[in-house]
Amino acid sequence: MNHPTDPHEMTQASTQVGTHAGYMPGFGNDFETEALPGALPQGMNSPQRCNYGLYGEQLSGTAFTANPPERTWCYRIRPSVKHSHRYEKIDLPYWKSAPFVDPDVISLGQYRWDAVPHSDQGLTWLTGMRTMTTAGDVNTQVGMASHIYLVTESMVDDYFYSADSELLVVPQEGRLRFATELGIIDLEPKEIAIIPRGLVYRVEVLEGPARGFVCENYGQKFELPGRGPIGANCMANPRDFKAPVAAFEDREVPSTVTVKWCGQFHTTKINQSPLDVVAWHGNYAPYKYDLRTYCPVGAILFDHPDPSIFTVLTAPSGQPGTANIDFVLFRERWMVAEDTFRPPWYHKNIMSELMGNIYGQYDAKPQGFVPGGMSLHNMMLPHGPDREAFEKASNANLGPDKLDNTMSFMFETRFPQHLTPFAANEAPLQDDYIDCWTSLEKKFDGTPGKK
Ligand SMILES: [Fe+2]
Repeated sequence: MNHPTDPHEMTQASTQVGTHAGYMPGFGNDFETEALPGALPQGMNSPQRCNYGLYGEQLSGTAFTANPPERTWCYRIRPSVKHSHRYEKIDLPYWKSAPFVDPDVISLGQYRWDAVPHSDQGLTWLTGMRTMTTAGDVNTQVGMASHIYLVTESMVDDYFYSADSELLVVPQEGRLRFATELGIIDLEPKEIAIIPRGLVYRVEVLEGPARGFVCENYGQKFELPGRGPIGANCMANPRDFKAPVAAFEDREVPSTVTVKWCGQFHTTKINQSPLDVVAWHGNYAPYKYDLRTYCPVGAILFDHPDPSIFTVLTAPSGQPGTANIDFVLFRERWMVAEDTFRPPWYHKNIMSELMGNIYGQYDAKPQGFVPGGMSLHNMMLPHGPDREAFEKASNANLGPDKLDNTMSFMFETRFPQHLTPFAANEAPLQDDYIDCWTSLEKKFDGTPGKK
């Protein structure tokens, strides 16, 4: 057992030999972990009396009869009914949910933003969330929202859960700690975390200010994409996903739990920390993943595969092949294709594509798409390389070329994304983004063989 000191006071389970301290490897495994010896019942879930006087409670992430069902059994100091009382509605005006279509905002367009700057305002995970786009409908559990977070302050005796969504967190700057019911996840740029629907947590700033991106998934959970003919290896490998070991605190202090439920926020007051799960087992858990372990697969002779080949995680919709969300990673890689236009091709897409830059330079846009910045190429709107990228790629001597110092991602959804007033009016929108294609020339003059 590990009894860590500051900045958190949680009693954490020891880690099994051969794994990363504080985490258990594997994607969607049936994990088991206990922060006190013997706290986890063996051979059954619901004994007449649990060890240490703990309460047994199940957290269901799918309907009972889903195949496979996703659920976790928690053994906790108090059942969750003690961490929930009367609710009072509050306003978090910058956190929006779909459907949110502002008649004064035009979402039809190609948009790009610089990094949203920090202010001198103290902001927590909740007050610092800035919704950029919404898509689908939170009430029917389809679609998503994209957010930027700007966090400078830790949540103190303040907890949160979203009944609406699973959160995919993509840090760009600073380090955060997610102290959750099921354990602790420390997160820094080049890593991502998934916080499941319904899981209670608080967010602490380990190194600030912190900025990053969030994809709020209203729909079915993220899963690993099928690799098809690629086979069993490469892309995101299951062993590189890490769920936290159990950790709990026994702290009796007035506390607040904020709940996001059907797009609205409510708080409830309780008298203790709800992070009191001493042991748990199951396959419904938060996890993190190091993007540097993503093994890209690409063209090794000629031509340019679709960007779906860089899918890290996919959240399916009801229709196979048309994801509610794909999370796609554009990272360092070798470019070796012969006689090929190597950057992304010109494109018009029924899926809407929201990109963010974690660090470095993106190959289709050498300028203007900056770390912390975002771009949106909405449903059926054309996009592609700017003139500089086109000319350079069309005239390059095509030897093996390492695309270095680059890490961008895409949240791609089958639904159109609607800009919030914050995205349209307050965030640093680049008014001239659309001009990046203006100088592209007509080269055609009817001459056969001209290239
Ligand atoms: Fe595209």
